[in-house]
Amino acid sequence: MPARTAEVPVGAGEEMGKQCAFPWYGGKQFHLGFLLPLIPRDAIHYVEPFGGAASVLLNLPRYQLETFNDLLGGVVTFFRVLRDNPDELIAKLELTPWSREEFELADLQEEGLLDVELARRFLVRARQAYNGSLAQRGRRAWKYDARGKVSGVAKRWVDIPRRLARISERLQGVQIENRPALDVIRRHDARHTVFYVDPPYVHSARVGGGNRYQHEMNDDDHRDLADLLRSLRGRVVLSGYRNDLYDQWYADWRRIEAPAKKVPSRNRFKENKANTEIVWCNFDPYHTPATPSLFEDTSQRTSPV
Ligand SMILES: C[S@@+](CC[C@H](N)C(=O)[O-])C[C@H]1O[C@@H](n2cnc3c(N)ncnc32)[C@H](O)[C@@H]1O
Repeated sequence: MPARTAEVPVGAGEEMGKQCAFPWYGGKQFHLGFLLPLIPRDAIHYVEPFGGAASVLLNLPRYQLETFNDLLGGVVTFFRVLRDNPDELIAKLELTPWSREEFELADLQEEGLLDVELARRFLVRARQAYNGSLAQRGRRAWKYDARGKVSGVAKRWVDIPRRLARISERLQGVQIENRPALDVIRRHDARHTVFYVDPPYVHSARVGGGNRYQHEMNDDDHRDLADLLRSLRGRVVLSGYRNDLYDQWYADWRRIEAPAKKVPSRNRFKENKANTEIVWCNFDPYHTPATPSLFEDTSQRTSPV
């Protein structure tokens, strides 16, 4: 995620009536109006190999089969616990204040933590940090609101249990994996599968450069991903910022540019002129069957387009 959009106001996605578990670098909670209509509904299996905060999955209607994956263990533990043991997690969160001390005590590296405690700490770090980076130290690590500018973050925390209960419901039946994305893509490729692929942005396309995730991808990794995506039988919706590499590798895919949009920056919304969200598809998203069918083979690829 670029530096200019680094500070994601907690709950900004929620204001639009969308499900948002926590703010995340590169999270697509602000682009759902653009993205959701491009994801075919007539597939049987929906796969998100670079899941992050699951902003897309959580806001899609259910598919018969759904797979979420991320290489970051904390994200995966959080969603697994929320799916399988929501009552205990929510009860613990109800007793967790929005506080600097709580935030600093939320050490994700401590040995021997039970999954439910790891999940609780993960959410504290993800929601109470300034920038959705899980950062624990530093001048601007804990998000606080001294001048009424941070959209009532502490008040929103009180509402978290209710929001998480809804998200837990949506997660029922979702397969949650913690593996390298390319393995997951290979394993689940089929003609009736749709992949929403949202890898870390190509470095040259980022405004501020630098690493934003614990697990990043260099240009060679992006090339391996492109080789794999181009060989798939399933349909692919790939997100990113425009860059020379993708222009070359996906030249024969359908490219769709999001309309200019105001995105959050330093706790204000402003138009992000530097980076425009782009989607590349190996099919024509404007010509897919309107009615989902579980039994017909509706997944014929129309690529290249
Ligand atoms: C752009 S974010 C995804 C954001 C997500 N679409 C959302 O809306 O919240 C990219 C994610 O890919 C994950 N990631 C990076 N390298 C990975 C890999 N090789 N395999 C699986 N996940 C990876 C990162 O941990 C990060 O959460």
